[in-house]
Amino acid sequence: MRLSGSRVLLTGATGGIGQAMRQALRQQGARVLGVARAPLANEDTDTSMRWVQGDLRQPQDIARIAQAAVAWGVDTVVHAAGVPAFGAFEDLPPEQAAAVLQLNLWSPIALTQALLPHLKQMPASRVVFVGSALGRIGVPGSAVYGASKAGLHRLAEALRRELGGTRVAVQWLGPRATRTAFNSAQNEAFNRATGSASDTPEVVARALIDLLRSGAAERHIGFPERLAVRANGALGPLLDAGFRKHRDALFASPNPGVPT
Ligand SMILES: NC(=O)c1ccc[n+]([C@@H]2O[C@H](COP(=O)([O-])OP(=O)(O)OC[C@H]3O[C@@H](n4cnc5c(N)ncnc54)[C@H](OP(=O)(O)O)[C@@H]3O)[C@@H](O)[C@H]2O)c1
Repeated sequence: MRLSGSRVLLTGATGGIGQAMRQALRQQGARVLGVARAPLANEDTDTSMRWVQGDLRQPQDIARIAQAAVAWGVDTVVHAAGVPAFGAFEDLPPEQAAAVLQLNLWSPIALTQALLPHLKQMPASRVVFVGSALGRIGVPGSAVYGASKAGLHRLAEALRRELGGTRVAVQWLGPRATRTAFNSAQNEAFNRATGSASDTPEVVARALIDLLRSGAAERHIGFPERLAVRANGALGPLLDAGFRKHRDALFASPNPGVPT
């Protein structure tokens, strides 16, 4: 699918991965409408980058963002906004769990619903959900975050099938750990202790471009993670013993109970 001239609504555009994505998209000749919580000024000289302000946890902001995107002529939506929740499950305050589910799962649902009537009218359009390897494999320390991304994966899968035969393509991008401010020092220590590989945001941005160009349904970043996703799907509980080192790393940290 051609990216040149396409109009991409990008949530999470101010984040580590979002910044790399907006740069990569513009290099491909796409125009980007970034969502930012803080108001950011549009430069009149640079029409390839526009901003719309809004908090994706607020229904009225979602309605306003969707309205602005429709008026702008959006044909591609990339849901990249997200918040982490690393730490022991029993220490995650319920209100923080609700906030994670609200941003990571509810907001892409609500924004996609608001945009769908418009996207169906476009000659060709696509919706990309940025998930996580942790949405496909349950890992100690990521129960609620993983639940939010697992829900997002099931949403993408069902919607892709529901919209089959329409002009709207639905795609899923599954990064593994990526070096951005998203990961706390505690999470990084956990990744080191468990030997989890991490990527730069540019690797994720390149994967997004490949995914959009290919029209493939899904793309998981990292060979061992791709394999692990398949093995987890096929073998599930038989892999539980392999997560002992993750459990040990989670509870070995000096302050394991503080989710970040
Ligand atoms: N980094 C990783 O290790 C990793 C791995 C796998 C998947 N992912 C996924 O990749 C995506 C991007 O992650 P990242 O590493 O770029 O994270 P990041 O650097 O922390 O950026 C998060 C983005 O989400 C936005 N956001 C947070 N709360 C929001 C709200 N209430 N309303 C609107 N926007 C909000 C932030 O905007 P503000 O500037 O307003 O805060 C920021 O643009 C997320 O969906 C994440 O789950 C990340």
